[in-house]
Amino acid sequence: EWTPNAFVETTIAELQAKLGDDKVVLALSGGVDSSVAAILLHKAIGKNLHCIFVDNGLLRKGEYEAVLEQYKHLGLNIKGVDAKERFLSQLAKVKDPELKRKAIGRVFIEVFDDEAHEVQDVKWLAQGTIYPDVIESVSVKGPSATIKSHHNVGGLPDFMKLKVVEPLNTLFKDEVRRVGRSLGLEDFIIGRHPFPGPGLAIRILGEVTAEKVAILQEADAIYIDNLKEAGLYDKVWQAGAIFLPVQSVGVMGDERTYENVICLRAVESVDGMTADWCHLPYNVLAKISNEIINKVKGINRVVYDISSKPPATIEWE
Ligand code: XMP
Repeated sequence: EWTPNAFVETTIAELQAKLGDDKVVLALSGGVDSSVAAILLHKAIGKNLHCIFVDNGLLRKGEYEAVLEQYKHLGLNIKGVDAKERFLSQLAKVKDPELKRKAIGRVFIEVFDDEAHEVQDVKWLAQGTIYPDVIESVSVKGPSATIKSHHNVGGLPDFMKLKVVEPLNTLFKDEVRRVGRSLGLEDFIIGRHPFPGPGLAIRILGEVTAEKVAILQEADAIYIDNLKEAGLYDKVWQAGAIFLPVQSVGVMGDERTYENVICLRAVESVDGMTADWCHLPYNVLAKISNEIINKVKGINRVVYDISSKPPATIEWE
C-alpha cells in the first residue's frame, strides 16, 4: 500500500544511490510540484541541489519575495534571479497568446541556461514532472513541457544535455500534496491554486505592459485576499483576475471616466480538463468589486465569468 512516508523514504534512498556526489540544478516555480521535488532532493543530497527561481515579472503581487523567503527558510540552496525586464522587453508588441507563451519559454530557457552555467560541474537537471505530465503527450503546460516543446528549435541549450531526474513522475497531484505534507511543507505552498507558467501574461488579453501587470496584480491580490478572508480559497480549485483590453464609460463625481475592465474567474475542477464556474456568494463578489473599483486606478468595472469548460477554457488565452 502506498503511503507518503514510505515514498519519501525509498525515494530519498534511490536519489542518493543515483546521484552520489553529483550536482543537480532545478528550476523552482513556486508551484507545488517543483517545490516538493526540491525538498525531496534537498533531503537526499543537500547543498548539491542548486535551485534557481526566476522572477519573470509575471507572478502575483508579492509572490516572488514571499516564495523566495519561504524556500530560504526551508534551507534550500536557492538563487533568485530578477529577469523582469528581460521578459517584459521580449513581450513588447506581442499580442498572440501562443507567441506570448513562446517568447516567455524562450527567455526562460536563456535565463535558466545562463544560471545553470554558473554551477560548476553540474551533471543533472531535476524536474517536478508528475505522472499526468508524463502521459499527457501533447501537453503544452508547465516549465518542463515548455522546455520540451523547444527540443526541435535549433540547438539544445546546454542544460538540456544534462541527465534528467524526475522524482515525482509516478505520482498524481493529490499524492504530491500528501508527500509535500509529510515533508513538512506548509499550506502556503501545498494548498496554492494552479498558476500557469506564463503567469499574468496570459491573463492580460493582448499586449502586456508593465502598467497593465501592475494593475492586474493589485486587482488579483484584492480578489485572492478576499477569497481567503471569506474562507473560500481552499474550496475553489483555481481563481484569478483577468485584465480585459476594453474600455467602458464610468462616472466619478461630475466626471466621466473611460477605463478598463477586470474580469474575475473562479472554477471547480478535478484536473483542469473540465471545469465549472464557482457560484461565489454575491456578498463576497460585491465586496471584491467595490474594493477593486475603489482602490485600483485604471479600473472602473468588474465582471464575473459564468462560463464552464468546455468550451470556455480556464484561462482566457
Ligand atoms: P485551460 O486554460 O487550458 O487551463 O483551461 C487548464 C489549466 O492549465 C493551466 N494553463 C497553463 N499552465 N502553462 C502552464 O503552465 C500554460 O501555458 C498554461 N495554460 C493554461 C491553467 O492555469 C489551468 O490550471
